[in-house]
Amino acid sequence: MKARVTRVCFVCLGNICRSPTAEGVMRRLVRDAGLEDQFQIESAGTAAYHAGERPDQRARAFAGKRGTPLDSHARQFLEADFDRFDWVLAMDRENLENLEMLRSGSGSSGAQVILLRAFDPVAPTGAEVPDPYYGGDAGFEEVLDLCEAACRGLLEKVRDSHA
Ligand code: 4NP
Repeated sequence: MKARVTRVCFVCLGNICRSPTAEGVMRRLVRDAGLEDQFQIESAGTAAYHAGERPDQRARAFAGKRGTPLDSHARQFLEADFDRFDWVLAMDRENLENLEMLRSGSGSSGAQVILLRAFDPVAPTGAEVPDPYYGGDAGFEEVLDLCEAACRGLLEKVRDSHA
């Protein structure tokens, strides 16, 4: 039987720190669960500043220490992407607002667009993954911790819906 595929796109501002980290974490969790045929996983940025770039060196280094390779190349999220995904998962409220604005002009009714941390069972309503770009190393570790918790919740939710 053909597997049902859930299509997920993680979205931040630049697509070089947070959303590639979430993408890498989700890929690892899905692979470890043996569910690769049930997911399509991508990431994108609301801005195009870093289009074509590999993830930030710091993000790659900290993720690598946790066995999580970050292999994406940055790209901007496009209006057409709302129809390419089931879930569009914003890292912070500004990303979410920018996505809602983009969608309001498109009339697309495709993807569910929400904050990634809505899937973390212990995160308060409205919780964000803070931008680590201008901060220190601890910010990158925090991004990994927050993405890990939320992506575990996302995986559980999708598994339940496929059960
Ligand atoms: P990200 O982090 O949105 O998590 O990829 C940022 C990357 C670059 C910039 C801002 C945030 N920037 O201003 O260039």
